[in-house]
Amino acid sequence: MNVEYGPLRPADAARCAELESQLFDGDDPWPERAFLAELAAKHNHYVGARVDDKLVGYAGIARLGRFKPYEYEVHTIGVDPAYQGHGIGRQLLHRLFDYADGGAIFLEVRTDNAAAIGLYESEGFEKMGVRKRYYRVSGADAYTMKRERR
Ligand SMILES: CC(C)(COP(=O)(O)OP(=O)(O)OC[C@H]1O[C@@H](n2cnc3c(N)ncnc32)[C@H](O)[C@@H]1OP(=O)(O)O)[C@@H](O)C(=O)NCCC(=O)NCCS
Repeated sequence: MNVEYGPLRPADAARCAELESQLFDGDDPWPERAFLAELAAKHNHYVGARVDDKLVGYAGIARLGRFKPYEYEVHTIGVDPAYQGHGIGRQLLHRLFDYADGGAIFLEVRTDNAAAIGLYESEGFEKMGVRKRYYRVSGADAYTMKRERR
């Protein structure tokens, strides 16, 4: 499968919202306007994965703070269910790491999301603690995870 990675564009926002509603059903999926706002914000970096020009994955990260050493927060990552398990999520994450340039990276993940936790742990993230009822709609808990500066 030939997967191409590149910047996420405003024209992708509607497709991202469609994927979000499949991937995060019941957990406040981001609408199109949320993607448009994040794509327009400074210090955010969003990437997409495409197969035959169809967007099949997306991921975004924000740079935090005004001064070095910066820290980073993964906003979101998702892969079309029909394309999961082929390494696309890992490749998207690596592109976020490139933007973070060795800085510490944080994220939140549902405590029952074994696939995402497996991916993050295999990439050097460690659990730091639990945020109770972090997901307001479902009431699910989240782990906060951190990948140390390197
Ligand atoms: C998490 C997600 C992005 C992973 O994308 P993917 O393209 O399927 O992942 P990859 O094929 O790159 O797999 C990378 C690693 O993730 C882990 N993983 C993936 N699917 C898994 C599963 N079903 N069970 C356990 N671990 C899994 C494994 O560690 C895997 O590494 P390996 O293949 O070397 O064993 C994808 O499952 C997804 O979109 N999930 C729904 C949205 C979501 O939960 N996003 C994260 C929010 S915090």
